[in-house]
Amino acid sequence: MTESVPSLKIVRDVASLRRRVQGLRSSNQMIALVPTMGALHAGHMALVERAKALADKVVVTIFVNPTQFGPDEDLAAYPRQESEDWTLLAAADVDVLYMPDALAMYPEHFQTEIRVSDVSQGLCGAHRAGHFDGVATVVAKLLLQASPDIALFGEKDFQQLTVIKRLVADLDIPVDIVGVPTVREDDGLALSSRNAYLTEEERAIAPILHRELTVVAIDIAEGADIKVCCARAVDTLLAAGFSAVDYVEAREALTLSSLMAHGPDARVLGAAQLGGARLIDNVPVP
Ligand code: PAF
Repeated sequence: MTESVPSLKIVRDVASLRRRVQGLRSSNQMIALVPTMGALHAGHMALVERAKALADKVVVTIFVNPTQFGPDEDLAAYPRQESEDWTLLAAADVDVLYMPDALAMYPEHFQTEIRVSDVSQGLCGAHRAGHFDGVATVVAKLLLQASPDIALFGEKDFQQLTVIKRLVADLDIPVDIVGVPTVREDDGLALSSRNAYLTEEERAIAPILHRELTVVAIDIAEGADIKVCCARAVDTLLAAGFSAVDYVEAREALTLSSLMAHGPDARVLGAAQLGGARLIDNVPVP
C-alpha cells in the first residue's frame, strides 16, 4: 500500500517498502535509512541532511516501537505529530517514508528478540530493563526490511548507537552505521522529542545537564579523579532541581567499558529526571 502527500511517498508494509527500495536501486543508487519514532525536530533533520549528503536516496522510518518502552514509561504519551512530520520530510525531499503500524512490525505469533549483551548493560540499560533489546530487535528488522547501504543514528543516544554498531557487526548485516553529532539549543540542551514534556521552569534548568557533563569532561582531560568529578556533577544536578540522577559516568567510547583513566576516545554520559522528562546527554572528553 502506497500513499502520498505532495512529493512524499508513504509506505506502510514491508512488501511495498521493498518494492520502492528496489525501484530506487534499479539505477545503482545508494540508499540511506534514517530510523525515527517521529515527532521530528532539527536533530532528526540533521540526520536526513547527512543522509542526503552521503547517499543518493533517503528512506525515513517513523515507528513508535512499543517493545523499547517499559511498562511504566511514556509509550502512550510519546509525542505524535504525523502531519507536521510529513510536511518536514516532504520539504527535505525525502524519497520514501516507511510508517508501519505495530501489527505490521510485530504480526501475530511474532516471538524473536535480539539481545546485544555487554554494551546494553549499565548506563541506560541499568534503568530501562529490556529497552535495548527492543531497540536492537526493531533496528535489525528495519535494516533487513529496507536493506540500505548506510543507516544514520544520533550521537545523543550514544549507548543506542554503540548497541546498533555491535548488532550490525555481530550479525554481519551489510550496512554502514553512521553516527551524527547531537544538535543543541543555543543554551546547550540536546534536542529531544521528550523536551516537549518540560515546563517553562524545567526548561530553564535542563541545559545544566549538558553543562555539568562538559565540566566533568574538561576536568577529566585535566587529570582530575573521574569518580570525584562524576559524583560532584550528580550533586550539582540534584541541587539544580533534577529529581533523580540515573548516572553520570565516564566510559571508553568504543566499548562503553568503564574508564579508569583519561585516554583517547573517552566519553562522559549522563541521564537525569527533570519533571516528567528523562533527559540523556553525552560529550566527548577533549
Ligand atoms: O532513536 C530512536 O528514535 C529509536 O530508538 C529508534 C532507533 C528509531 C528505534 O526505535
